[in-house]
Amino acid sequence: MDSIYVTGGRPLKGQIHIAGAKNAALTLMPATLLSDEPLTLTNAPRLSDIRTMSVLLQSLGAEVQPLQGGQVLALSSHGLNSTRADYEIVRKMRASNLVLGPLLAREGHAVVSLPGGCAIGARPMDIHITALEALGAKIELKDGYLHADAPKGLKGAVVPLRFASVGATENLLMAATLAKGTTVIENAAREPEIVDLAACLVAMGAQISGAGTSRIEVQGVDRLHGATHRVVTDRIELGTYMLAPVIAGGEVECLGGRRDLVASFADKLEEAGVDIVQTAAGLLVRRNGERPRAVDVVTEPYPGFPTDLQAQMMAMLCTAEGTSVLEERIFENRFMHAPELIRMGAQIEVHGGHATVHGVKRLRAAPVMATDLRASVSLILAALAAEGETHVSRVYHLDRGYEHVEDKLGAVGAAIERVKGE
Ligand code: EPZ
Repeated sequence: MDSIYVTGGRPLKGQIHIAGAKNAALTLMPATLLSDEPLTLTNAPRLSDIRTMSVLLQSLGAEVQPLQGGQVLALSSHGLNSTRADYEIVRKMRASNLVLGPLLAREGHAVVSLPGGCAIGARPMDIHITALEALGAKIELKDGYLHADAPKGLKGAVVPLRFASVGATENLLMAATLAKGTTVIENAAREPEIVDLAACLVAMGAQISGAGTSRIEVQGVDRLHGATHRVVTDRIELGTYMLAPVIAGGEVECLGGRRDLVASFADKLEEAGVDIVQTAAGLLVRRNGERPRAVDVVTEPYPGFPTDLQAQMMAMLCTAEGTSVLEERIFENRFMHAPELIRMGAQIEVHGGHATVHGVKRLRAAPVMATDLRASVSLILAALAAEGETHVSRVYHLDRGYEHVEDKLGAVGAAIERVKGE
C-alpha cells in the first residue's frame, strides 16, 4: 500500500486542473446498458473507481475501451451476455448498484449483489427497491443478491422518494427511459450529476424534463441510440482543491471550476473569510487574512452543503479562528477523519452527528491513516499547514476519487511525495 508524505508550511501558488466528476462517470457508464449502440464519454476522470466500474460492465459482456490515457471511454453493451453483478466486484464499490435499473429496463432481469456496508454507513437500498417496484419490477433478496424481474417490461408511474437519494434517483431515471408510458419522480435528487446523466440520456434519445429539480418527468421510449457525452466537472474535487490555499495560504486557480457547482460551499468559504473570483479559466481562491474564521456547517442534499466536502471543510476549520459546529445529516458515521486530525493536534469533540471544532493556530505533523475516500484527502489538506512531515498511510482510498493528488498539489508548491508500497 502506498503512503503520502507532506511537509507543511508552504503557501501555494498556481493552477490546478479539475477533472471530470467521478460520481457522474459512475452513473454515465452503466447508461451504456440501455442501448446496444456505442456510448462515448469524454473528460472522464482517471480513477480506480472508474476501472472497477469498467471491470463490472465487462463482466456483463459490455466493452469498455479507455482512449487518450483514459480521458475518453468508448463503451458498448452490444455484446451483453449476463445480468449478474457479482459480490466480488460490487463489494469494492457501492456505485456498482447502478447497473440494476439499466439491466431491468434493457433485459427485464437483473441479479445484483447488495453492496454491503462501508466505512461511512450501512447504505441500504430500500429506496432503490421501492422505486423500481413502483415501475412493476418484482425484487427479492436471496443469498445477499437482489433478484429483480420485470418479465412484461417496466411501466411508467408516479414515484415519490422518501429521501432524495442520489443513487435511487439515478437507477429510477435510467429505468424509466425505456418504461412504457410516463414516469414522474417526486423528491428527486437535484445534484449536478443527475442533470449530467439526464443530458446524456436525452442525447441517447430519452425524453426527460425537470432534471435538477425535485420533480423529474420521463416519457418512456422503445429504444435508445448511441451518443457522445462530456462528463461534467467534478464539484467535489473542485471544492477540495479550493480549500488547499485556504489552509496553506497563497492563491490557487482551479481550472474548469464553476461557482454554480459549489454555490453553498463557496458561500460558506466566503463567510470564513475567503476570496473567490470566477475567472475565464475557473475559480481563483485565496484566504484574505492570516487565518480563516470559524463557521457552522450542516450537510444536506444538493443544493445544500455537500456531505462529500464535510471532512475537507473540517480540516480547514481545525486552524480557523473560533469554534465551529459541523452537523452530518446524510451519513451515520462520517467523522472518522476526526480522530486522525486530533492526532495532529486538532481540538474536536464528536457527539453523534455533531462535531465541535475549536480552532488552533497550527497543527503538528503525525503519522495518520486514511479510512475512506474523503477522510483521506482531508488529512492531506490538514498536513499542508501542519508543522513537520505528515505520513498518510493507506492512500489507496485516495486513488478512488482523486487523480494524482501529489502531482496536482506538488505543481502549486506543496512539499508532497508518494512512496510506493510502504
Ligand atoms: C452518492 O452516494 C455518492 N456516490 C456519494 O459520494 C455521496 O456521498 C452521496 O451520493 C450523497 O451525496 C456516488 O454518486 C457514486 P444516497 P449514494 O443514496 O447514491 C441513505 C463519494 O465520496 N439511503 O443519496 O449511495 C444512505 O444510507 C461518495 O464520492 C437509504 O437509506 O447516496 C445515506 O445515508 C460517498 N436507502 C443517504 O441515504 C437507500 O435506498 C444518502 O444516500 C439509499 C440511500
